[in-house]
Amino acid sequence: MAPPAAIPWYQDLVIYEVYVRGFYDADGNGTGDLRGLTERLDYIRGLGVGAIWLLPIFPSPRKDDGYDVSDFRGIHPDIGTLDDFRILLEKAHEAGLRVLVDLVLNHTSDQHPWFQSARRGPGHPHHDWYVWSPTPAPHPDVRVIFSDTESSNWTLDPACGLYFWHRFYAHQPDLNYDNPEVRAAMLDIARYWLDLGVDGFRIDAAPYLFEREGTLCEGLPETHAFLRALRGVCDTFSPPRILLAEANQSPEELAAYFGQGDEVHMAFDFPLMPRLFLALRREDARPIIDILRRQPVLPAGCQWAMFLRNHDELTLEKIDPDDRQFMWDEYAGLPGARFNLGIRRRLWPLLSGGRRQIELLHALILSIPGCAVLYYGDEIGMGDDVRLGDRMGVRTPMQWTTGPNAGFSTADAADLYAPVITDPEYHFAGHNVQSLERKPSSVVNWLRRVLITHRANPGFRGAPMRILDVENPAIFAFVRENAAGTVLCVNNLSQFMQPALIPSGNWKGLTPVDLIGGAALPPVSEEHTLLTLGPHSFYWLRLDSR
Ligand code: GLC
Repeated sequence: MAPPAAIPWYQDLVIYEVYVRGFYDADGNGTGDLRGLTERLDYIRGLGVGAIWLLPIFPSPRKDDGYDVSDFRGIHPDIGTLDDFRILLEKAHEAGLRVLVDLVLNHTSDQHPWFQSARRGPGHPHHDWYVWSPTPAPHPDVRVIFSDTESSNWTLDPACGLYFWHRFYAHQPDLNYDNPEVRAAMLDIARYWLDLGVDGFRIDAAPYLFEREGTLCEGLPETHAFLRALRGVCDTFSPPRILLAEANQSPEELAAYFGQGDEVHMAFDFPLMPRLFLALRREDARPIIDILRRQPVLPAGCQWAMFLRNHDELTLEKIDPDDRQFMWDEYAGLPGARFNLGIRRRLWPLLSGGRRQIELLHALILSIPGCAVLYYGDEIGMGDDVRLGDRMGVRTPMQWTTGPNAGFSTADAADLYAPVITDPEYHFAGHNVQSLERKPSSVVNWLRRVLITHRANPGFRGAPMRILDVENPAIFAFVRENAAGTVLCVNNLSQFMQPALIPSGNWKGLTPVDLIGGAALPPVSEEHTLLTLGPHSFYWLRLDSR
């Protein structure tokens, strides 16, 4: 059956997050580049994803790996030129891939010409583009996000004798969104990239644009008004370009980012992400079910973007302190793995390479309504290296072959922007695209099959979910139903086999058919359907009337 009409292009899209510096080095200087990424688009397309999201591509001193922007209209010379970017866009679109870029709205680098001018003092151009104070007293209750390195959100600028406000590193001064010139400049920058042809933005650090005394300075009404203005810019393009917000907030706070369907199209599901890992280790689906039940119903055309890992630490900021400690105990055993209020490890090392657990977590983010965002390298089981500092340990070069530098670059190993992973457990010799593509049972081939299944099933496009009451706490079962059909998804969070007694509702006479393998189970005949699930296994069953 065809999917229902009028489903927007981004509905239930699968996005692949790419770190351009780390993906493929076409010019052999040790750093990945846009030309390299363009050369490897076939690989990404072959995975079955529909879009790529590029981490910041702008000129930057790279003290926060590009999230410290010094020119919003250029391309970092390490990764190429604007022409390279245009070619990437063209080739990606030809291959049927949409392209999202990271837009860092909240702050600039202290090397940005705006800040360089601003720090010369009041009266100088751009001074009012930043947030200044004669004392570090205002907004005392606002949390410090980078708590490992920063002790305050204010830093004294010696050149100007005033304190400037920064939610992240002290070299990343926040822009002053109260200044209409700043708002206009940032909307112009968005328009500039949209005119070039990008399909949307990941909005970095969305909650922090405005400050108001007596508040926590997060998600203020003024911030939402600006995001709506940005949405207005996107909507002047056809088909509409999309906004994906990075806002690490509670489900209730996150609801505001969707507005009345007139703000962002998607927001990362920060509430769900840590609870997937929590549920897995507790072998109990309730953390997942509880948080999904707390989530607001989203306006039409809006959805969550679910993810397992990304380029940052696995953040535990927004979960109960007891759960946080449990997560640290379970997942951050390696010295140095803890970072700020999170864990800086990649997916495979977090799960000790537990293949069934990795499959189960992917199945969850693909089957719960919304987008799934995959992080480059996780599909080949890449390891990490906490010794690299900050979050660089999860941003090492993509591993393509068993050859020198894992086939990432022809440069001398000493010239790579970061070393390839060579620890015995995750050595690139065993975790690289070439070797794993040849192995039918590899996780990358498994993922491809699952993504094909996901894409081919209209039941996964735009269909709402209904969580089913199942007594066994290790089981998480739900259905997705729309005019195109019903898909029953059953997940076993336990490391042991489990029974799942599923309430059959009005399915009597229907035949459950495994979406992936095609096998048919006996037709539903009772009030409850008994399924037996192997350790950490999942079923996607289409309910057929034949
Ligand atoms: C976001 C990015 C992170 C960066 C921070 C400051 O959280 O994901 O990598 O350090 O913003 O821009």
